Amino acid sequence: MRVLGIETSCDETGIAVYDSDKGLLGHALYSQIDVHAEYGGVVPELASRDHVRKILPLIEEVMAAAGTEPEALDGIAYTAGPGLIGALMVGASVGRALAYGWNIPALGVHHMEGHLLAPMLEPEPPAFPFVALLVSGGHTQLVEVLGIGEYTLLGESLDDAVGEAFDKAAKMLDLDYPGGPQIAKLAQQGRAGRFTFPRPMVDRPGLDFSFSGLKTHTLNTVAEHAGPDGLPDQQTCADIALAFESAVVSTLVIKCRRALEQTGLRTLVIAGGVSANVHLRSELTSALTKIGAGVFYARHEFCTDNGAMIAYAGCQRLLAGQSEPLGVTVRARWPLDSLPECKVNK
Ligand code: KG4
Ligand code: ZN
Repeated sequence: MRVLGIETSCDETGIAVYDSDKGLLGHALYSQIDVHAEYGGVVPELASRDHVRKILPLIEEVMAAAGTEPEALDGIAYTAGPGLIGALMVGASVGRALAYGWNIPALGVHHMEGHLLAPMLEPEPPAFPFVALLVSGGHTQLVEVLGIGEYTLLGESLDDAVGEAFDKAAKMLDLDYPGGPQIAKLAQQGRAGRFTFPRPMVDRPGLDFSFSGLKTHTLNTVAEHAGPDGLPDQQTCADIALAFESAVVSTLVIKCRRALEQTGLRTLVIAGGVSANVHLRSELTSALTKIGAGVFYARHEFCTDNGAMIAYAGCQRLLAGQSEPLGVTVRARWPLDSLPECKVNK
């Protein structure tokens, strides 16, 4: 089965063609970072307009690079939520309309299921069952995954998502949006031990997270060391970036270890934009291999938003015979554990 995947949930237009026999045939990503940079965050209306401008040329480009004519497609998968409604509507309408015109089925994919399954595109994919740590700009969740669509939420953030906390901490240090990669880069120059930030909620039982206290601690530390321009000197900013990143990483490591102990599972999958963080990947790998667990993640470009993960997830569900009627439904919020089971991949 060959599927065209369309991702437009936020500020990236991602397109891919995935074939269940041949693997990923082509993919491309257009990032709107420059459009939103001057506002310090994503402006929903501008995001929708830019998706409209870019989506069809990008589909044409990816289909040509994948050597795929419309007749060779068996289905179209588009992100149907969670995300920005206007942005989702662009991908969903285009995907649905093309499927109608080409007389093939279409399916709306859950964005976080896309992230969760992205490591399946790697040469050595994880096997079910596993625990997934989903860490993106909008979500921080620990999920027990028995198969596609068989998800039990183990814990989640009670306030900010991890990616959001990275973005806000970056703003405090006057770094550009998106802040995660900027903090990670600056942290490389940081000196360990200069500051130690609190590890939120690790002394409490359970698998929920909270990052608002860490955010306030970061803000206070920046204010305490600020010079006349309102910012600490460059070295202090780097020390703060490292202290922040280390606090986030060790909190996530502690909770992931706890989730594996609680479920008795021995495989952890990390997915979503923050799983691109090299410090997080290496700390999780070294802590969890010690307890005999394996850690899996997608290649860097498939950690953040992309069309390949939507094409893959959609393909699995289309293979199981799932598809949607002509009316387009998109959702700003959509609980992952409300998705139907998908038997085919078990
Ligand atoms: O999954 P994603 O691309 O979009 C959402 O679904 O939200 O995640 C974006 C988030 C942003 O908050 C960004 O700052 C964060 O992922 N991020 C990172 C890194 N790369 C992206 N956070 C920490 N370290 C990184 N290397
Ligand atoms: Zn995402």
